[in-house]
Amino acid sequence: MTALERLRGSLRASGLDGGELLFVLGSGLGVFAERLEDARAVPFAELDGMPRSAVPGHAGRFVSGRVRGVPVVVQQGRVHLYEGWSPEEVTRAVRALAGLGCGAVVLTNAAGGARADWPAGTLMRLRDHLNLQGRGPLAPGEAGYGSPYDPELGAALDEAAAAAGVPLEQGVYAGLLGPSYETPAEVRALRAMGADAIGMSTVAEAVAARAAGARVAAVSLVTNPGAGIGGTPLSHAEVVEAGREAADRFCRLLEAAVEPLRARLRS
Ligand code: HPA
Repeated sequence: MTALERLRGSLRASGLDGGELLFVLGSGLGVFAERLEDARAVPFAELDGMPRSAVPGHAGRFVSGRVRGVPVVVQQGRVHLYEGWSPEEVTRAVRALAGLGCGAVVLTNAAGGARADWPAGTLMRLRDHLNLQGRGPLAPGEAGYGSPYDPELGAALDEAAAAAGVPLEQGVYAGLLGPSYETPAEVRALRAMGADAIGMSTVAEAVAARAAGARVAAVSLVTNPGAGIGGTPLSHAEVVEAGREAADRFCRLLEAAVEPLRARLRS
């Protein structure tokens, strides 16, 4: 049995199958999982085939529950290529859940800003990405072309943003290998290539989730201006406060998005 099949089996055995919507939460964005109704958590360690970070305190978990009555599954924590995981491992969970009938995968991440006109705290939905990680998650022969981000799910996020009174930009996410942050010259080059935000995740999961049959949406929280763009550095207290304020807006956006996303899946 492959690792993907083992993971699919253990997700099913843990009752994490059957959810129509999967949210993958990026760094600092875990509070969304804490706001679910009827929440039930399954640590990654209990799931056969689930890759998990060796860093203590970053093991991660799935949480199933409801948002405004709609059942959802939340993946709190992910593994990254820069930790040494393969593209197959980085994308195994989204592939497994897509194979269990999850129709929409909403990927979220913390990112650096590539634009001078977006302050820290900006929320951006991904219209497209640049995969600059030097590798991709598809097997030879697996179809993958065009932007993996579904325009109708994007429109559902826009509708949710308007309803929740949360400003939401849209743009292009550059996915880099990391783990180091970019140099000022790299940020200028990425901006010239069309990037609006820069991070180290999401691109492989988006491509793999779509190839596995799910529809994909993604949201970045711009936590800092990219190197060379910001003026004076923020104090730590200001960054923590900006993060707390942004996390609340982020949660309100996702909570408002659940119904419109589900409606798009059913239309
Ligand atoms: N660059 C890449 N990834 C990031 C950044 C950044 O500036 N901030 C948060 N994740």
